[in-house]
Parts: sequence; C-alpha cells; structure tokens
Amino acid sequence: MLNVEEHAGSEQPDPQPTSPRRPSPLASASQPLTHLRRRISLRPLLCVCGLLLLVMMWRTCFYVIGSLFPETGIVAFAHLYGWTWHPAFSRRSVEASCSVDEVIGAAGRTAGTAPHYDVRAGRRDCQLPYNETRHACRTHDGATPERHPNVTVVTALFDIGRTNRPLCHYLRYMVNLLRMDVNLVVYASPETLIVVERVRAHYGFTNKTDLQAVISWASIPFGPLLPKMYSAVVNSFAGHFSHLFVAGLPEHIIPEYDLINAAKVGFLRGAIERNTFDSQFFFWMDAGAGHGKAKFYDQWCPCTAAIRDKVTLLAGPPEADQPPGVTAEKMTWNVYFSQHFTEHMYCPVGAAWGGDGAAILQFEAVFSKVLHNVLQHNLIDDDQPLLALAYYENSSLFRLMPGHSHSFVNMC
Ligand SMILES: *[C@@H]1O[C@H](CO)[C@@H](O)[C@H](O)[C@H]1NC(C)=O
Ligand SMILES: *[C@@H]1O[C@H](CO)[C@@H](O)[C@H](O)[C@H]1NC(C)=O
Ligand SMILES: *[C@@H]1O[C@H](CO)[C@@H](O)[C@H](O)[C@H]1NC(C)=O
Ligand SMILES: *[C@@H]1O[C@H](CO)[C@@H](O)[C@H](O)[C@H]1NC(C)=O
Repeated sequence: MLNVEEHAGSEQPDPQPTSPRRPSPLASASQPLTHLRRRISLRPLLCVCGLLLLVMMWRTCFYVIGSLFPETGIVAFAHLYGWTWHPAFSRRSVEASCSVDEVIGAAGRTAGTAPHYDVRAGRRDCQLPYNETRHACRTHDGATPERHPNVTVVTALFDIGRTNRPLCHYLRYMVNLLRMDVNLVVYASPETLIVVERVRAHYGFTNKTDLQAVISWASIPFGPLLPKMYSAVVNSFAGHFSHLFVAGLPEHIIPEYDLINAAKVGFLRGAIERNTFDSQFFFWMDAGAGHGKAKFYDQWCPCTAAIRDKVTLLAGPPEADQPPGVTAEKMTWNVYFSQHFTEHMYCPVGAAWGGDGAAILQFEAVFSKVLHNVLQHNLIDDDQPLLALAYYENSSLFRLMPGHSHSFVNMC
C-alpha cells in the first residue's frame, strides 16, 4: 500500500482525468482511496488488459468480423490473392494474349520414350523390360496390370478469374500434356479449344484428340450446384477467416474453383460414356499438372494404375516440405466436419488419378453423393477431401498408391 502510494505520488498528475471532478458524497469518508485512484491513471491499465484480451481472443474477434461482413471479406481476400469474386464464364479469345507459337515454345524437354512403351508396335506393353535394373512393371500391392492397357486422358481448362495467373500461363503448363502421344479429351470454351486444336495438330495428334466445347458455368457437370457453392463459401467464411485459411484459400473463397474441381469426375463420366477412342482405362489429368516442372515422357504408360475394376488414387506420403495432414485412410465424416477449418486436406492427389472406366462410373455416383452431403452442411471444398470421403464411403472401388502431386508422370 505504502509502496503503491509512493509510486503513485511520483507520477505526473493526469492532465485529463476520465472521471468527473465533482467530489462524491463519500469522498471525505474514503479520502485515502480516492486520492489513490486519482493518482493512478486507469487508462493504460485498461489498454493493456484490452490488448491482452484481443490477443487471447483474436480468433473470436476475426470470427465476429467475418460473420458480420462475409461478402466484403471474401471480395477483399479474392482481390488480395489475385482472384475475382463472381467471374462471368469467359468467352475471351485466348490468342489475344497468347499465340500458338508461344504455347509451343513453352514446352520443356521430354524425358524420352516412356518406360513401358513398345515403339515398334505403337502401344503400351506393361511387361516390357526397359533397362537392366527395372523390368516388367510391378505394382506396390501386387495387383496385375493389363499387359496392353488402352488409355484415354481427360482434361479441362477454364478461366475462373485468376488475375495473377492468366489462362495463357496455364496453356504454357498444358503444352507438356498436349505434346504427349495419348488419346486426349479436352473440355474448354470454344475460344480456348481453337488454341488447343492447333497445338495438338502441330504435334500430329489431331486423330487422338476429342474437343468438347463448354459455354457456361451451368453446362459444366455439377454446374447447377454453383449457387449452393456460393452460399457455402459465404457461410463458412468466418470460420476460415478466424483460422487464417490454414485449410486452403482458393477453395474457400472462389466457388467456381470448387465447381471445376468437382466437375473432373463428371467430365470423366462424359468421356467414358462417349468413349471416342474405344478405351478401357480413363485418367483425369489437370491441364496444369506438374506446373511446367514435371518432366513428361513422350507417351504415358500408367501401368501401375491399369488395374481392372479399380480406380487408383495417388495418396502420399507427401513431399518432404508438406505437413502430413489427414491421410485418405484416416478420413471419415467426423474427421471432415471437425477439422475442415483447421486442416488442409490434400490427400489423395487431385491432379491426376483414374483407372477402369466401369469403376469410375460407379465412383461418380459415390462422389456425387459425397458432394451433395457436403453442400447439405453448407460447406464446400476442392476435390481432394471429397476424393478421400468417397474412399471412406466405398473403399472397395479404390486402390491407394504411394505418390505425390508429380508422381503421375511415371506411374510405373
Ligand atoms: C534403369 O531405370 C532406373 C529407374 O528409372 C534408373 O534408376 C536406372 O539408372 C536405369 N539404368 C540404366 C542403366 O539406365
Ligand atoms: C485420321 O483419321 C482419318 C479417318 O478417321 C484418316 O482418314 C486420316 O488419315 C487420319 N489422319 C492421321 C494423321 O492419322
Ligand atoms: C481396349 O481394351 C478393351 C478391353 O480389353 C477392348 O475391348 C477394346 O477393343 C480395346 N480398344 C482398342 C482401341 O484396342
Ligand atoms: C461399392 O463398390 C462395389 C464395387 O467395388 C459395388 O459392388 C458396391 O455396390 C458399392 N457400394 C456402394 C454402397 O456404392
């Protein structure tokens, strides 16, 4: 008491006291206390306490702000990170920003003939020895690949309003896929397909190319669910904002990003039903897969995934710089609902996966159920946690294969 009084006494008198100066009726009775209160300014103390509270409860504060202004927050975040909120379906000419020559010029060097490709017969041969150390293709689980799997690769490219990485950027990634000697189905706007067609013709693969024009968000598989995806993004903004988007940014800000991720399964289904190239195996591959860094072979022999009646997913272990996250085997609805704000779920890999066409058609039905259930809870995500949930729903359709986002290049 004495110490405090001494300390207080040494302080400068408060120039602007916060309490009114009028003496209280009790003033004379509690003279020493009032004296003390006047001398110690409460304001710095309150400031420190307030600050401490804010530090302790910043998550709650962010949550409250995010709940009050979700749309403003989303637009701000989208803008900040180079995305557009509510982009119109783009029918812009790609050639205005990116010539065919520019796209072709961006192709990296290939890794040469694929390990299990029989050049003379012009087909895959999964039993072909290709050097003295690695012979016939072996699978991690002992499953037997088809000897001569016939394969169709399916991809898509849309402008979803990413301003910091325009479509031309993705076409320069995509040229590595366009240059591969594979049957290829491409979904894109008619304007983008003009460039894709010329690039495929340049490499002599016109007859191995099936171009599928898409002209609106609504005509993309699951497109009618886009308004629900919007509502889910707005609904979960406060939760993701208060966790600083550790669960991923674009998938929780841009509904069109979620739509085209979910659509992969639907595009595959369309390609399987048309079966332009009379294939047994179908694989999804992102147009930007490998991000221009993965070295593609001239052909593609996904022997380790050419397994009858199965869909094969690349499912870790992740690259060294990634946290382990929720693995596909550990995913359940409980895990998803309890951790979707706090965990970035990127296993299995969404960039490339596939297998037997008949199994993919069964899988499409499971995936559709999963997507509807997530939306029912007013949540949305990219394809990776949804693939994991589909695996949880019916694991007998799948094989999980070790691998990360660049492993698709050499699936043998
Ligand atoms: C054979 O292939 C393996 C795997 O790609 C590679 O590590 C090895 O260097 C190759 N051996 C020769 C002699 O090319
Ligand atoms: C493409 O297929 C057509 C018939 O389907 C054939 O006439 C043409 O020669 C083929 N072109 C090439 C380059 O293989
Ligand atoms: C692809 O494989 C399936 C199943 O073996 C077969 O029915 C089909 O004819 C094959 N297609 C081609 C183009 O060889
Ligand atoms: C799960 O997949 C198997 C095929 O592997 C199928 O026979 C079964 O009907 C599927 N179950 C459900 C619930 O979809």
